[in-house]
Amino acid sequence: MKTRVLAIAVGIGVMASVPVLAAPHSVPTAPKDYLAMKSPLKETADVVEKGQQIYERKCKKCHGTKGDGKGNSAGGMEFPPSAFNAPGFLKGKQDGQLYFTTEKGSPDTDMDAFGPGSEAGLAKDDIWSVIAYIRKAFSK
Ligand code: HEC
Repeated sequence: MKTRVLAIAVGIGVMASVPVLAAPHSVPTAPKDYLAMKSPLKETADVVEKGQQIYERKCKKCHGTKGDGKGNSAGGMEFPPSAFNAPGFLKGKQDGQLYFTTEKGSPDTDMDAFGPGSEAGLAKDDIWSVIAYIRKAFSK
């Protein structure tokens, strides 16, 4: 009997000492009207280059030069920046979903809103050009 009580006590002790793992955060799903959106821009070299410039100024510090989510500021975040270069990641995301998260951000994470009216204040075309760059540079 005594050993059993001890075993239970030890069991509870072990469970209590296991750190609670943070549940992975899921990015909010874009509403239907966003998911239906298509880029109004042609994917020309100019558009991709403009997207690259924006990426380097506004996104790289978190999402990384290689789009692997390991930018210089990415350490220590509760929810890590998405790795765009993970196999199949970009294929699995509709343009309108990428647009929505970039415009509105992901609440309660370090992913801020970048769209019109935000601090970064990217115009719609800026967002579409950065998406064109992300797809071109990081799709796997
Ligand atoms: C301060 C760090 C930071 C910066 C700067 C940043 N992001 Fe993010 N981003 C994040 C984090 C963290 C997440 C993951 C959010 C979550 O888990 O909900 C994320 C997620 C995303 C997603 C969602 C991908 C998915 O999983 O569906 C997109 C799209 C995105 N970022 C685009 C951008 C773009 C474009 C820029 C630049 C204009 C940018 N981010 C700049 C931190 C950042």
